[in-house]
Amino acid sequence: MRKKVIAGNWKMHNNVQETKDLINGIKEGLKEFKPNCEIIVCPTFTNLLTAANELAGTEIKLGAQNMFYEDKGAFTGEISADMLKSVCAEYVILGHSERRTIFGETDEIINKKILKALEKGLKPIFCIGETLEEREKNLTFNVVKNQIVNGLKNVSADNMKNIIIAYEPVWAIGTGKTATKEQAQEVHAFIRELLKEIYNSEVAENVIIQYGGSVKPENAAELLSQPDIDGALVGGACLKADSFLSIIKAC
Ligand code: 13P
Repeated sequence: MRKKVIAGNWKMHNNVQETKDLINGIKEGLKEFKPNCEIIVCPTFTNLLTAANELAGTEIKLGAQNMFYEDKGAFTGEISADMLKSVCAEYVILGHSERRTIFGETDEIINKKILKALEKGLKPIFCIGETLEEREKNLTFNVVKNQIVNGLKNVSADNMKNIIIAYEPVWAIGTGKTATKEQAQEVHAFIRELLKEIYNSEVAENVIIQYGGSVKPENAAELLSQPDIDGALVGGACLKADSFLSIIKAC
């Protein structure tokens, strides 16, 4: 049985005080029930240390939203894997569609980041997903396949236990337009089958595949009830403790 994983991608939201308030809101809410999933919060770089301090002694894990693939050097504005580890990050979101489209990250760049994160002992949350245009042209499976094959190049079967895959159809991100449970399940099953071909059935059976894109308290339970959907990568709805907690409860 795969454990469900609910992660909150805070994107570019919250200052230090807001970070403390949101984490404390989540901690308070978790006193009321025992979550049946792993929980990860991914604040901005500047709030990671604050978040780590607030999360100390809890079961909630910490993730970053990006990192660079070099160890150190003249890379103005970039953050290394070691720096993330030094503020207690355990996960790092890589290949998010906003990084791909706004910041021009290619599959090759994302692959270098994934390999570096794994080498340094950080667990990538590797995002993939098609645009609306690609879906309408029936290219969803091709696009997802290419992103997986290129993004996971040289990642060993053994290291796949340290990777979470997040299927986030670009047309569902921040639009309020969620994939139906059938649309999401179909792609998740495809990804699992693909991983069986690339690696083996053990990797395919054990890998966590999250869905992301307008996940809300109202649709979380039905998405999470699908056999190949192992959790959610939540954007907008993770910014309020109540709605994030409702999604956690849906597990
Ligand atoms: P929304 O939940 O706001 O659609 O964002 C999803 C996302 O991009 C998570 O990484």
